[in-house]
Amino acid sequence: FGLMTYDPAFTNTASCRSAITYIDGDKGVLEYRGYPIEQLAEKSTYLEVAYLLMFGELPTTAQLQDWEQGILKHTLLHENIKHLMRGFRYDAHPMGVFLSTVGALSTFYPDAKNVSDANVRLEHIQKLIAKSPTIAAYAYRHSKGLFYVYPDNNLNFAGNFLNMLFKMTEAKFEVNPILERALDILFILHADHEQNCGTNAMRAIGSSEVDPYSALAGAAAALYGPLHGGANEAVLTMLRHIGSKANVPDFIAKVKKGEGRLMGFGHRVYKSYDPRARIIKKAAYDVFEVTGTNPLLDLALELEKIALEDEYFVKRKLYPNVDFYSGLIYQALGFSPEMFTVLFAIPRTAGWVAQWDELHRDPDQKIARPRQIYTGYRTRDYIPMDKR
Ligand code: CMC
Repeated sequence: FGLMTYDPAFTNTASCRSAITYIDGDKGVLEYRGYPIEQLAEKSTYLEVAYLLMFGELPTTAQLQDWEQGILKHTLLHENIKHLMRGFRYDAHPMGVFLSTVGALSTFYPDAKNVSDANVRLEHIQKLIAKSPTIAAYAYRHSKGLFYVYPDNNLNFAGNFLNMLFKMTEAKFEVNPILERALDILFILHADHEQNCGTNAMRAIGSSEVDPYSALAGAAAALYGPLHGGANEAVLTMLRHIGSKANVPDFIAKVKKGEGRLMGFGHRVYKSYDPRARIIKKAAYDVFEVTGTNPLLDLALELEKIALEDEYFVKRKLYPNVDFYSGLIYQALGFSPEMFTVLFAIPRTAGWVAQWDELHRDPDQKIARPRQIYTGYRTRDYIPMDKR
């Protein structure tokens, strides 16, 4: 096999050069363009973070205004997209609806195929960031059999999303500022995470020079899986299955025997506490002050306590990841579990498009095309049917 390296799951292969997100998995450090995630979660907004990921610097007031207006003017969806979404079964999973609809947008914007033009890329990047919450909200309302609410660009990004989801009457829907801020913080925390499975898919598909809607549909499909963004939904299912604190030791014993995983624990890169989980845990308490506590929180805390003291988890450096507490907040905000991964996909859109743009600016970029170690037969003669 010559000099070929066998690296299944690319655990030790850098697939690209990137200046966007830095992770130190041993120390539990996450930075976007050099800014610590803790500072961004405290002081920034999701759209400002999206700008930072994309352009590398924090914007001035005028730059931020331009950027926000450039996004907000694209929040509407073509009416035919609504018809398309109506065609899904009444019980369609919102994540399946989300990724199919994003892919369908490719047919509405044929000019997006011109991926070598930076201005064209920027226009569709803004469209994708703008339209992802609208698609998500429509997918949610479809799953509930409710009418669709058009975007209201007088609201901020998170507020508009909550309005599209939860407005029920003609009367103005009052968005609670604490919940709106909590959602924006969750959006900041989920915006990018270097070469995770979804982002790697975005780059691999984008490397064929396909339009960004098609590439993002593939990235969202990767995120849908339970080992990736689907873990937040799986955590809630797991907590419900465990049922009470008394059952935690039995559940942990089963995990240690290899009968299932502790969802929301472990990470390919973090071998210490995921810094996002720490921030989310704190944000959960702010949300619960408004919504009342989530009864599953006590169970989650007990599970975390026992796991962090258990030799199995200590030895393997398994700590809570971003998905362990996020589902509890989403549930308190009024979302059903099928929406959790969609809530991850909305902000991750900012990371996917920034990474996709970086890919197209990299002079070393080529179509992603790994090799393989062939383990099958070599040349043999075709056997006629009556001789097999
Ligand atoms: N529960 C129990 N054991 C685990 C877990 C877990 N959650 N995660 C890893 N292990 C064990 C695994 O069985 C293996 O043990 P052994 O060495 O005895 O065979 C060891 O730890 C190493 O695991 P691995 O599967 O080789 O690790 P990986 O880097 O391939 O997997 C992971 C990373 C995130 C897929 C995995 O930790 C996992 O399945 N976690 C649960 C799902 C989850 O929470 N995913 C969200 C990840 S963070 C956000 C995101 O990416 O979307």
